Amino acid sequence: MTDRVYIFDTTLRDGEQSPGISLNVREKLEIAEQLTRLGVDIIEAGFPITSPGDFEAVSAIAKKIKGPVVASLARAVNPDIDRAWEAVKAAERPRIHTFIMTSDVQIEHQLRKSKDEVVEMAVAAVKRAKGYCDDIEFSPMDATRSDFDFLVQILDAAIEAGATTVNIPDTVGYALPGEFGQLIASLREALPALNDVIISVHCHNDLGLAVANSAAAVANGATQVECAVNGLGERAGNTSLEEIAMVLEVRKAELGVTTGIRHQEISRTSRLVSNLTGYPVQYNKAIVGRNAFAHSSGIHQDGVIKHRTTYEIIDPKMIGLEESRLVLGKTSGRHAFRTQLASLGYELEDSELERAFKQFKALADKKAEITNEDLDAIVAEEVRTIEETYKLESLSVTSTTGMSPSATVKLGRDGQTMSETSDGDGPVDAACRAISAITKTETKLISYSVSAITGDLDAQGDVTINLEIDGKNVLGRGVSTDIIEASAKAYLNAINKTL
Ligand code: KIV
Ligand code: ZN
Repeated sequence: MTDRVYIFDTTLRDGEQSPGISLNVREKLEIAEQLTRLGVDIIEAGFPITSPGDFEAVSAIAKKIKGPVVASLARAVNPDIDRAWEAVKAAERPRIHTFIMTSDVQIEHQLRKSKDEVVEMAVAAVKRAKGYCDDIEFSPMDATRSDFDFLVQILDAAIEAGATTVNIPDTVGYALPGEFGQLIASLREALPALNDVIISVHCHNDLGLAVANSAAAVANGATQVECAVNGLGERAGNTSLEEIAMVLEVRKAELGVTTGIRHQEISRTSRLVSNLTGYPVQYNKAIVGRNAFAHSSGIHQDGVIKHRTTYEIIDPKMIGLEESRLVLGKTSGRHAFRTQLASLGYELEDSELERAFKQFKALADKKAEITNEDLDAIVAEEVRTIEETYKLESLSVTSTTGMSPSATVKLGRDGQTMSETSDGDGPVDAACRAISAITKTETKLISYSVSAITGDLDAQGDVTINLEIDGKNVLGRGVSTDIIEASAKAYLNAINKTL
């Protein structure tokens, strides 16, 4: 018999807590729509009490998304729960997810309450949330470092108060797979009521064990896995969605479970999240890293040519990684462009489509083959820049051997054009200095990287820039066939995020 495991995606909540990530509402909606296409069961859309932006994003996702449950996070206190409900109440299937610290170390040094008070707070929170909706998730934070008997006591009380999902977080990524699997088994044995609710797990990756721990939990009866696209999340991140989804698929005979994930959407989901968050995907990351299906040793290449399965346990087509096809060209019109975007799952409004079409035409002038990856990048750029305060209107750079490069940048804001010329150590530096002068923003460069979107010589350059602005770590991303322009766009994207 195979059991269904629910996939709970927290890219927009725990994932967005990664340093430097700051998504606007439009970007979060685009990701939520892609997660729906991917087939996740629950989308944790945000933590509404933390900021007006989070509240707005949860409300917008609640209104728009049909199919998955939309979850809204709250600490176990009334103002959080009321705000979480206010944000999520328009959802077709709303969930309130409330949590409280339960490990001795966190209760003593951070929460500073007695254990009885902690149980009372948890029960009161679940009851208050239950007054708003039926679907309630309760998380005892730092469960893996909590006293086992106390964990049983608080879970029992939360279920009695109305929790329909209980989540066991390995908040600091401390557990070992054997231990974590055993914890789930022991909890089920000690508390039979757990078998009437969904048992969820939420693993962090501090020791690189989040996926292994989640799989061990499933093998021991967990029925929901919390995860994030590309493994984003606090510190070393959360369980990577694509990895756990493929573990559960590739080893389904052994684990005896199924999920609702449409695996063919995995690759595009990873690309979209990377494009919009500015977090590049590690080259050798399992499943979605660019080397995940690259065979370089002669013996391996020989084997794969003779029979793919000699060195591949997953057919790349299964996760939507086909050969980059030529989809559109210079002569393609709006209709073909819209149709191709729709086949990729993008539904742009007329004005967005018009701007994206202009970008496509400009790109088709410079690049012979426009691939699906290029289209993903165009849409991401369109979504990314839609709410930006400053827009790059033009950039001209002169760079001559033996002389300081200089850049003239024109930026548009509220219908006005502002221009500035600056020198720099290199053309990128000069362009960034000109942008800083116009936007009156001081920045400190933390890191800068450039990569190519596809493998060809005429590929678009994809620049990620990490800046410190007003003490905050901000990421920006920009794409262009000209890497100086891509750098200027990435720099401006980071600045716009702080405005
Ligand atoms: O890591 C954690 O414990 C969390 C909770 C809010 C579930 O993110
Ligand atoms: Zn977490």
